[in-house]
Amino acid sequence: MGLYRKFVNQTRKPEGVLGKVMVNGMNGGHAKLADWGMSYLPDLSPDKIAELGCGGGRNAGELALKYPRSQVFAIDYSEVSVAKAKEYNSKMIEAGRVSVQQGDVSNLKLSSETYDLATAFETIYFWPGLDKCFGEVARILRPGGTFMIVNESDGKDEASLKYEKIIDGMKCYKSEDIKSALITAGFTELIDMCCDYLLCIENGKLGYMKRL
Ligand SMILES: C[S@@+](CC[C@H](N)C(=O)[O-])C[C@H]1O[C@@H](n2cnc3c(N)ncnc32)[C@H](O)[C@@H]1O
Repeated sequence: MGLYRKFVNQTRKPEGVLGKVMVNGMNGGHAKLADWGMSYLPDLSPDKIAELGCGGGRNAGELALKYPRSQVFAIDYSEVSVAKAKEYNSKMIEAGRVSVQQGDVSNLKLSSETYDLATAFETIYFWPGLDKCFGEVARILRPGGTFMIVNESDGKDEASLKYEKIIDGMKCYKSEDIKSALITAGFTELIDMCCDYLLCIENGKLGYMKRL
């Protein structure tokens, strides 16, 4: 595997020196998309938030700022991502607002029906099977909880499809694939479908919102 391919493969599970470089870039590189996505979150006052596939942890910190009464539980299966997310959120961790744990979304070590909000930014492409992983998200959310997925790819754009070819295990899902897996997992009711980029599950309702 060439160096470029090795490097872009770090998006799936950052490891070693290349993984550290990748994670350092992710916080800044995804900030605009993440902030845009967060701006679509409905009027919520979540107590507990699960930030899944948290990478370098910037979004966990932003969620803690956006919802000052919340506790944010950031999860990632990469040791390198967890270390960076802990470093990035050290003050929030000290204050008891954010915690970062190593874990796989397909088998979350989190209690059932406990979280008010779950978020997934630029990560579901790598999850090992949407049905199983969305089932885990549905399990940890309290009834009526909110799941927001923010993807840059709509499953059809050329740039992402190029990455899909060279990143092992990456899958750029189309909105209909995501919707079908969400419904299988128990999320219901389509509220809007005007766009292919952002997907938001609000109080058990499923919506697609416009990209920037
Ligand atoms: C492209 S990065 C995105 C990171 C962050 N959400 C962001 O927007 O900057 C994808 C992250 O998802 C994590 N990830 C992928 N599959 C995962 C899984 N099954 N369980 C937990 N984390 C996972 C990777 O380790 C990586 O840190």
